[in-house]
Amino acid sequence: MEPEIFINFKHYENAVGYSVEKLLNEFAGVDGQEKIYYCLAPLDLRLQEKFPGMKIFGQHVDSTGFGAYTGSISIESVKGIGIEGSLLNHSEKRLSKEIIEKTVKKAADLDFKIVLCVENLDEVKKYADLEPEYIAYEPPELIGGDISVSSSKPNIIEQASKICENKTKLLVGAGVKTRIDVETSLNLGATGVLIASGIIRNAKPINMLVSLLGNR
Ligand code: G3P
Repeated sequence: MEPEIFINFKHYENAVGYSVEKLLNEFAGVDGQEKIYYCLAPLDLRLQEKFPGMKIFGQHVDSTGFGAYTGSISIESVKGIGIEGSLLNHSEKRLSKEIIEKTVKKAADLDFKIVLCVENLDEVKKYADLEPEYIAYEPPELIGGDISVSSSKPNIIEQASKICENKTKLLVGAGVKTRIDVETSLNLGATGVLIASGIIRNAKPINMLVSLLGNR
């Protein structure tokens, strides 16, 4: 099975604004676009129009809808510019249970895919029944580091994949840097990985993406 690779561009300087176009231009030439998701900052989501062959996702959405909601990123507005899904509840953008439930439900009604980020097994259990499109397990202490979730938490990944079975697809993230991390995650039952610094902070981001895909 080919892995699904979700790249979180976060708000790194080389991955927002005009700089992100340079990165997307490079990534656009990589084979296997159907399995790659580019999670961009809100102001960059309009680039979906410029890169129609790439799957651009958001990093956060609100359940507010249209109206007097200053600062909102409504699912409706994001869908309106051709975006099909978004991360939600990332460790760097945590939400209450009430808001998560409301947003996941609204997304399902609008046929919008949610990658619901969680930090531990209890949260996998708590949220799998909401049946978001994906649950992304990311232990916060490993985010941005060099120890990967697959080498550090194999048992949790395995348990999480059992909980998610027949409900939602499991992604794992934090410290992912190598093809072996990706393969180990798949062998433990994940559908793919969520990765940021391994690609975005790499001196040659495209080479890292290609090697994670196993194309080289
Ligand atoms: O959303 C992905 C992320 O939080 C993992 O970050 O830098 O460890 O790949 P990183």
